[in-house]
Amino acid sequence: MTASPSRVGILTDGDRSEEQRAAADWLAARDGIAVETVAFDGLSDRDVSTDFDALWWHRAAPIAETDPLDDAAGTIDRYLSDGGGLLLTLRAMASIDRLSVESVPPDRVGEESLAEPTGVLWRSLYADHPAMASLEGLRHPVRERGTVPAVRYERVLPQRGEPLASTIRGDTAVPDEVTAVSWRVGECSERDEHNEYAESAGAVVGLGAPVLFAGPPASDDGPTADRLTETRDRLVAGCLRSLTVDGGTVARPTDAEDMRRLRDRVDAAGEDRPGGRPKYHLTPPANWLNDPNGLIRWDGQYHVFYQYNPAGPFHNTIHWGHAVSDDLVTWRDEPVALAPSPDGPDRDGCWSGCAVDDDGTPTLLYTGGNGRDQLPCLATADDSGLRSWEKYEGNPVIESPPADLDVLETEHWRAEFRDHNVWREGGRWHHLIGTGLADGGGAALLYTSETLTDWTYEGTLLAGGPDAGAVWECPELIDLGDRRLLHVSDYENVVYFLGTVEDGELAVESEGLLDHGDFYAPQSLTDANAGDGGDDDADDAARSLTWGWLPEARDVDAQWDAGWSGALSLPRVIETAPDGDLRQRPADEVTELRTERLADAAAIDLAPDDRRRLDVSGAAIEIEAEIALDDAEAVELSVFETPDRAEHTPIRYARDGTLSVDRAPSSRDPRAFADAQSMAVPPYDEPLSLRVFLDRSAIEIYANGRRCLTSRVYPTRDDAVGVSARAEGGRAAIASLSAWELGEAMPTGEE
Ligand code: FRU
Repeated sequence: MTASPSRVGILTDGDRSEEQRAAADWLAARDGIAVETVAFDGLSDRDVSTDFDALWWHRAAPIAETDPLDDAAGTIDRYLSDGGGLLLTLRAMASIDRLSVESVPPDRVGEESLAEPTGVLWRSLYADHPAMASLEGLRHPVRERGTVPAVRYERVLPQRGEPLASTIRGDTAVPDEVTAVSWRVGECSERDEHNEYAESAGAVVGLGAPVLFAGPPASDDGPTADRLTETRDRLVAGCLRSLTVDGGTVARPTDAEDMRRLRDRVDAAGEDRPGGRPKYHLTPPANWLNDPNGLIRWDGQYHVFYQYNPAGPFHNTIHWGHAVSDDLVTWRDEPVALAPSPDGPDRDGCWSGCAVDDDGTPTLLYTGGNGRDQLPCLATADDSGLRSWEKYEGNPVIESPPADLDVLETEHWRAEFRDHNVWREGGRWHHLIGTGLADGGGAALLYTSETLTDWTYEGTLLAGGPDAGAVWECPELIDLGDRRLLHVSDYENVVYFLGTVEDGELAVESEGLLDHGDFYAPQSLTDANAGDGGDDDADDAARSLTWGWLPEARDVDAQWDAGWSGALSLPRVIETAPDGDLRQRPADEVTELRTERLADAAAIDLAPDDRRRLDVSGAAIEIEAEIALDDAEAVELSVFETPDRAEHTPIRYARDGTLSVDRAPSSRDPRAFADAQSMAVPPYDEPLSLRVFLDRSAIEIYANGRRCLTSRVYPTRDDAVGVSARAEGGRAAIASLSAWELGEAMPTGEE
């Protein structure tokens, strides 16, 4: 169907309330709509498909167990499968499971008192949804006073429904209160070229936002009330209309093609520009990404899983997203790999964990969240593509934190106890879990097992003491040959400790930060056959590749509007240098991303306080440069620069050995963070060598192949692609300069 509904059946569940009558009158007063009231228990006597373009059930009062819904479910299901449309407003949305459309009903069903204008915060991904056709922007309050029904998904998500909107309250975006959802019922017969939605399948929209028609006005202030009412009218009419027009039936993305379409929608919305979504770093197809998880090379392919929220670009209702690669540089989006089980210990989220090869069976250990508990869970895959995971029925595999340890309890968690790093050593499985101790400081707890399901607590591999961060998240122990590296994420930084393990404890020799910028919760993959089985034995030695999460450095609203959040770093090789210091570099394969060479210059002299625009530009490029300070105080390399320098990001290397990134001039968007980041680069007696990866909103800097600083910046202008250099207070030189345009991590047209 492609027209607005002209015959709408208003469902009633007994005597009509004042609210229901007011809603029906409102609809009947609209041009071209014939409204008829139909009782649930009379539905089966009607030829619903012929009689109505759409059905609407609007209910403010609580729904009783005894209401005659279940009998009507069959008729409604048939109607929807025939291509019908159903709008469920206020508490009617809470009946979605009883109508057999969905198995997970909203978890917040009650009332609330409004103190601020409240309504829908529409997802930018669906800004072109027909429900929004007569509304501008994404934030639409509909009411600011009174006690109103509150129906939404807060800690869980529908299993089949696709969230369309969260909540706006005053000026505050509240992304984790999902208040509008779309379901597709029945099969979709075809897709047209630009539209991922089914045309023939039935459509259901649930709207839990306070769209009320009777009672006091929406606001005490007349003009405000009129405005809110007007928005309500457009929203409800839009939702009704969306049930019967093209593009209105949105289902939850499930297969790899759906993921590709999500990615393309985000790009089509203009994210493929300076300040937008990175091009060659791994990003989610849309929505939220945090930690890399379950990194494994399986059957010749690299698998990266990651913390993913399908409901939008915010942290909540965490699933595992999945991407796969043959070559480590080009990737394909895979369907969601792990979703919370409505009745499982991971009901509220599948948090971070790792993958191991259990004698041929791919196995995940991850943290399940449920209420105030977070406990380890296990899942195994039965396919070589690692798409279909079965959760172990004995989950959780550890029932509680060690009894003899005083683990930190917080507002949210009975015990801070999460994230998993599992490896095989000495014929046993070893397992690190992150925690915080009540008397101060993060710690990494060590367990061992024969089986992966039955664990013995061995003690703390390392405890940070009262001066360490309160909780250590995502601990990981990496084998660097002569020594081991433990890294932990302490809410702010990724701290590493180098040393040796003796009797289950790490004897620390040195420590530092893995990265000095926007880099968090890294995880590594052991690549046993790095050289792809070539002749060169050295190439075939195992290597460890590390990815970190590059969180956004802008506020919630900016992330919401972008429709995506979070990227992963390039894969990094971490090693120790002969002098014992740490070395970090991008995996060799990263050079395969280079497409066009932009610069290959011998020395460029910089006169004192002179700025030179370099013959290099781009928003997704790699720059390799050697910088000799000579007698200058500092050299500034300015990137993402507009011709008038209204936007630019200085990367400054100073004589005192500090390298800094100043984000104050990076962006004219006030929602972007404007602070500076810096790190000490160890003293050197030769030019500073830099590899700088610029990727739209990411800057990943490797200094002297040792220290890393990753930064997120958000230029707003399309011409923020220039690069210039300047020496301060003396002469300096760029001793060598090379630059390349880099290709796409997620190229289109790949199967
Ligand atoms: C680190 C972290 C982990 C947790 C996950 C939840 O960023 O907080 O400790 O498992 O993210 O998404």
